[in-house]
Amino acid sequence: MYRNKGCGEINEGDIGKEVALCGWVYRYRDHGGLIFTDLRDRTGIAQIVYSLEISEKVHALAHSLRAEFVIAIKGNVCRRPEGTENLDVKTGIVEVYASELKILNTSEPLPFMLENDAIVSDTLRFKYRYLDLRRPFMMNNLLLRHQTTKTIRDYLDALGFLEIETPMLTKSTPEGARDYLVPSRLNPGSFYALPQSPQLFKQILMCAGVDKYFQIVKCFRDEDLRADRQPEFTQVDMEMSFVGVDDVITVVEGILKTVYEGVLNVKVETPFERLTYKDAMERFGTDKPDMRFGLELKDMADIVAQSSFKVFLDVLKNGGRVKAICGKDMAALSRKDMDNLTEHAQSLGAKGLAWIKVKDGFESPIKKFFTDELLRQMAERLGAVQGDTMLFVADKEAVVHDVLGRLRLDIAKTNGIIGADDRFLWVVDFPLFEWNAADDRFEAMHHPFTSPTDEGIDLIQANKALADKDIATLTSKAYDIVLNGYEIGGGSIRIHQTTLQKKMLELLGISETDAEEKFGFLLDALKYGAPPHGGVALGLDRLVMLMAGSETIRDVIAFPKTQKASCLLSNAPSQVQDSQLKELHIKLR
Ligand code: AMO
Ligand code: AMP
Repeated sequence: MYRNKGCGEINEGDIGKEVALCGWVYRYRDHGGLIFTDLRDRTGIAQIVYSLEISEKVHALAHSLRAEFVIAIKGNVCRRPEGTENLDVKTGIVEVYASELKILNTSEPLPFMLENDAIVSDTLRFKYRYLDLRRPFMMNNLLLRHQTTKTIRDYLDALGFLEIETPMLTKSTPEGARDYLVPSRLNPGSFYALPQSPQLFKQILMCAGVDKYFQIVKCFRDEDLRADRQPEFTQVDMEMSFVGVDDVITVVEGILKTVYEGVLNVKVETPFERLTYKDAMERFGTDKPDMRFGLELKDMADIVAQSSFKVFLDVLKNGGRVKAICGKDMAALSRKDMDNLTEHAQSLGAKGLAWIKVKDGFESPIKKFFTDELLRQMAERLGAVQGDTMLFVADKEAVVHDVLGRLRLDIAKTNGIIGADDRFLWVVDFPLFEWNAADDRFEAMHHPFTSPTDEGIDLIQANKALADKDIATLTSKAYDIVLNGYEIGGGSIRIHQTTLQKKMLELLGISETDAEEKFGFLLDALKYGAPPHGGVALGLDRLVMLMAGSETIRDVIAFPKTQKASCLLSNAPSQVQDSQLKELHIKLR
């Protein structure tokens, strides 16, 4: 037997007993007659003492220990001498006096330190991921992820959900990102697509009568990567029959509450707050607002319309918007700081950033265009007081929202006004369609199987040609779950009737041939008694990232990919042999 306890498991109750432990030498201190090592395994860290008085042989062997040697020890658990306890570690009031020591393996000098706070480049962390994962915080992240998925599985199982696997070698799905393609050897010139989600299959499972489906499943999207985006990521994917929006929302709230309370021991109040898409955009400039602080965007059109500032007046005349936020405590910033902030806003797409400081009256390059009364009204609307700066963007609505929405986040971060408590939020009533100016046509905001609201269904089925402006106002039964400014999930009630589905595809300008080609199998399935159904998918990586308090999903994925979508551990993607390409009927250009 190698061991009878985990390093992190020894405690006061073991004092006076002999234990056998195994693990990696984490830290090493030589105090002459006494040598100390911190021994680490998955469960934690134990302090081992090698004393000349107990065994000269063991003490001599301990001299040869180096970082990350793998050892087995046997010894007596003792209380640490008074004043030497370390309450930061679970095992900090005990230590083990080794009577036996066996070196099970040696280690070459490490490419980086494994301390939690060691600063290590991503390149090294990914190349030596097995070392990176040994760092206690990374091991904790793996544990956290395991506990989260286990809790979710148990929760859904108890509600009667069946976990069912769907194909990885499949057809393009409608999420709208770029596909990863896999060539078919047996079908020259044909390709599978790796699923962007199991969307079509889970709807088919509803048609099959499965009733409640879930799957913790890899999805693949060839997108530009960011801190919260990986080319392969994991969804908690769900679909249910005979449900409306509130039923799906209740299941998700139950999952998140159970996970937070069970895994993190953090209390969560349900139901979560809900905002319509429209309100989210108006108040926060984004459909995934961080609700941990205020700093809301305010419409300024009615006030600035009374000014003589031509920039604002022209924008309003052309149907644009003028909105502002309150830069808390920003009046102390220098002219240079304000120029930098303006440049920042411009880099985000604004034409400029107008500012008015509240500083013993008002101070601004555009002050002359406003009466004192207008300045006062604006400050009142924004809640700007002495020491604050009002920040204005005038532009097309989308630009105003995007720029001010991001400035809002930047300002909150700089000012440290982000609340400590996690804030869940539902964003509901999404538009059904989104105008694609480049292609001069409407696109589905979520995907083409998303159900319009009941009023929308009536309008669409009224057999009248709809004007573009009517189409633009249609809303859907889609919802997103947002946590601290991250979209951690989304879904919708689906269309389950062929007639309505056909109308939708018409509105989207998708021809019958195209529809048949792309998702004919789902359209067929709708013909044979498809039940009303809906579902949702949670982004597991993002959820666990936020639970771990991490800034990137790479910290909660065992083997993540780099910005260039490569795996530095295995060196994928890599070139293949000519013979393999030949078999696949592929010639490289
Ligand atoms: P959606 O495309 O919104 O919906 O995806 C669901 C959730 O998955 C997460 N996510 C990602 N996480 C990491 N890296 C990525 N590249 C990535 N892309 C998405 C997000 C997102 O909210 N089939 C629908 C769901 C449904 O309608 O039921 C779907 O896939 O947290
Ligand atoms: P100008 O009259 O161009 O010198 O601009 C005066 C101020 O208004 C400068 O601080 C500009 O950054 C700002 N500004 C210019 N265009 C816009 C705009 N579209 N929205 C907000 N501020 C603007």
